[in-house]
Amino acid sequence: MSTATDEDLKSIPRHIAIIMDGNGRWAKERSLPRTEGHRAGADTVRRVTEGCGELGVEYLTLYAFSSENWKRPKREVDALMKLLEQFLRTKTPEMKEQNIRLQAIGRLHDLPKSCQDQLHRSVEATSQNSGLTLILALSYGGREEIIDGIKSLLESVERGHLDKAMIDGEVFSKHLYTRYYPDPDLLIRTSGEMRISNFLLWQLSYTEFYITPRLWPDFNKEDLKDAIREYGRRQRRFGGI
Ligand code: FPP
Repeated sequence: MSTATDEDLKSIPRHIAIIMDGNGRWAKERSLPRTEGHRAGADTVRRVTEGCGELGVEYLTLYAFSSENWKRPKREVDALMKLLEQFLRTKTPEMKEQNIRLQAIGRLHDLPKSCQDQLHRSVEATSQNSGLTLILALSYGGREEIIDGIKSLLESVERGHLDKAMIDGEVFSKHLYTRYYPDPDLLIRTSGEMRISNFLLWQLSYTEFYITPRLWPDFNKEDLKDAIREYGRRQRRFGGI
């Protein structure tokens, strides 16, 4: 139990990114199939999204399915896609009610057609909302995003829309999937692994990392507040002194 007061919550990160890890281990501890861990993980997504909205976070990016996750057994991939589609279908009314705007990043064309269609409907249905922006990273890989960004940059140069000499970090950022969002201020990773796992490689350059041993299905609003309190205690220098 944390003893900190809400006074410590005065520094709210504008953008939180989360590597949601530990669904499989959570299920294993209970002798349940891995898919049950993912189902419990989807409940956490709902809780944490609600928590971020209540605290006034502007952007929340969740690593929901990586480009490497396609290598998992077909039945697990199918179950995850089904869960995602079901989540979007059933939670869209709630997102509308809570003023949440849904967005997605990644190679979305890799997703099953029915999943893409539902995603499109949910994004559309919430597009006018002005509260928290929830960004799902789906079929997402940081290296893939950088490659796609380079291709997009080259295309602009070839078409004569961009002079090669003008390319800098800011210009490149505008060719990434995340071009509409600020870089994350805080990265949370659950289940204790000390890895970045191909997530937002460019965007996490100056982000504060918070790693907790808590497994994703067990992560709750109080854990979210603990992460934000820890963030508030850190002094960010962006390479300066
Ligand atoms: C990591 O757990 C989690 C994932 C691969 C996917 C995250 C998916 C969800 C939280 C559920 C569905 C998402 C939404 C947006 C509805 P793991 O399987 O790698 O766990 P392990 O490392 O313990 O095996």
